Amino acid sequence: MSEAVQPCEVLISADRIAARVRELGAEITRDYRGRPLRLVGVLKGAWVFLADLIRSIEHEDVTVDFLGVATYGDEKQSSGEVRVTKDLDMSIEGVDVLLVEDILDTGVTFHFLLNALRNRKPKSLRAVTLLDKSSRRIRQVRADYVGFSIPDRFVVGYGLDFAQRYRQLPDVCVLKP
Ligand code: PRP
Repeated sequence: MSEAVQPCEVLISADRIAARVRELGAEITRDYRGRPLRLVGVLKGAWVFLADLIRSIEHEDVTVDFLGVATYGDEKQSSGEVRVTKDLDMSIEGVDVLLVEDILDTGVTFHFLLNALRNRKPKSLRAVTLLDKSSRRIRQVRADYVGFSIPDRFVVGYGLDFAQRYRQLPDVCVLKP
């Protein structure tokens, strides 16, 4: 993208993301060898990450499902109330589930999702997040696999939005004022 239309400053380049996603894929491949695996992507932010991650996992039996969630509040500040906008299509009872998130921020969404999914009795439940902004955490949750720890900056790109825009950017960027 040319400088003239670049709306943000690159925090993590597409090349660094690709390399890290390959590493995460290799780790997940090792950890789930011989066990059917269900990836559960959280809409909308996680779909770009999930699309790359699944192609980095070398596994014969991987299935995918999606959950949609929304938090009330404005674009930059969560109110802490989470609601499901799209439920899973398939049961996860007795299934090894890996929740796929784009960003772990306050932890409110993650906390809600982990509780909601645990109630459905998966065989195991782990989570991977591309980005971890741990300085903003208000719920004590952690992901089993983390792509990058990032500072407290508002980021967009690679699936992440501001007012539904910028998800298509190949890099993770900090929006210019
Ligand atoms: C983002 C992200 C996580 C959540 C993390 O979703 O995808 O689900 O925020 O924030 P938290 O840790 O503070 O709860 P967002 O609400 O921006 O919706 P989107 O995925 O549709 O962009």
